[in-house]
Amino acid sequence: MTERQGPILVLGGTGQIGFELVRALSGAATVLAPTRAELDASDLGAVGAFIAASRPSLIFNAVAFTAVDAAEQEQVAAYRLNAELPGVIGEHAADVHAPVVHYSSDYVFNGMSHVPYIETDAAVPLNVYGATKLAGEQALGATKAVSLIFRTSWVYGARGTNFALTVRRKLAADEPMNVVDDQYGAPTWCRAVATESARCAGQFGGDLDRWKELGGVYHLSAGGEATWFGFASAIAEMVPSNRPPAVLRAVTSAEYRTAARRPRNSLLNNQRIERVFGVRLPSWRDQLTMAFGD
Ligand SMILES: NC(=O)c1ccc[n+]([C@@H]2O[C@H](COP(=O)([O-])OP(=O)(O)OC[C@H]3O[C@@H](n4cnc5c(N)ncnc54)[C@H](OP(=O)(O)O)[C@@H]3O)[C@@H](O)[C@H]2O)c1
Repeated sequence: MTERQGPILVLGGTGQIGFELVRALSGAATVLAPTRAELDASDLGAVGAFIAASRPSLIFNAVAFTAVDAAEQEQVAAYRLNAELPGVIGEHAADVHAPVVHYSSDYVFNGMSHVPYIETDAAVPLNVYGATKLAGEQALGATKAVSLIFRTSWVYGARGTNFALTVRRKLAADEPMNVVDDQYGAPTWCRAVATESARCAGQFGGDLDRWKELGGVYHLSAGGEATWFGFASAIAEMVPSNRPPAVLRAVTSAEYRTAARRPRNSLLNNQRIERVFGVRLPSWRDQLTMAFGD
């Protein structure tokens, strides 16, 4: 394996996945993780200049506009961060010969399939967020940069803003909560996405031929399947001092209106990443225990 020279750049190091990336990578490498105050990622020129000046040997892009409903209104901002930014990163990464690891979403699919999606299935997003994420994959793929793009789903962790923390907060406050029970997906712990995606990049190291040969899109989500209600119920079962079932109510998507439409089936088939990298994430239930079983 060719050794890398230069620091590893993590963009979005304060987010769920980015924070875990910085944590996982820091022991073994010099990591640059500029905060939003240090580098506004919506200033695409500044991002390009930062890459040119810092000459990273590897770039992780965990920046995104992740507010799915807000994206319906804030299309310009969502498009800039989710669609244009990956292309700009790719262009400048190619100039300094740095591979790019990027993250995308189950929401690139319309959810009509009755089986988990594979990487080559037609991507037809239902909402603005999904459309911008798909455009970002394409923009990065159109550059000369070598890359790994990990599509993941229903990401949560112990910090930041996510469904699992909202459920825990509402349970603790005995607040009733309507939870959708007809959308299927795999809740995936941000730490697992970060560590396994970093491990995949590590397998290729600085060998750009391997990146070229085997780079591209990979699905990376927890095993098993759940609905949001099933996920919330499992979280509730972990909090013995609450009276969980009483405050959770299963509803349909039709009853729970949101600005953005969501796919009915968000399940991703993870066989490619297992075949190529030997990576297989535990079931979402096991991950939940690891994340919150304190
Ligand atoms: N969350 C999910 O359920 C989910 C599901 C599938 C795929 N993904 C994908 O996984 C990746 C990471 O998601 P995540 O959940 O870890 O995201 P997140 O927690 O929402 O974090 C987003 C990151 O982007 C940064 N950011 C946003 N706008 C910025 C700007 N203008 N300048 C600089 N930084 C900015 C945030 O910085 P601040 O801390 O300063 O806001 C934060 O570090 C994304 O590509 C996302 O699309 C997420």
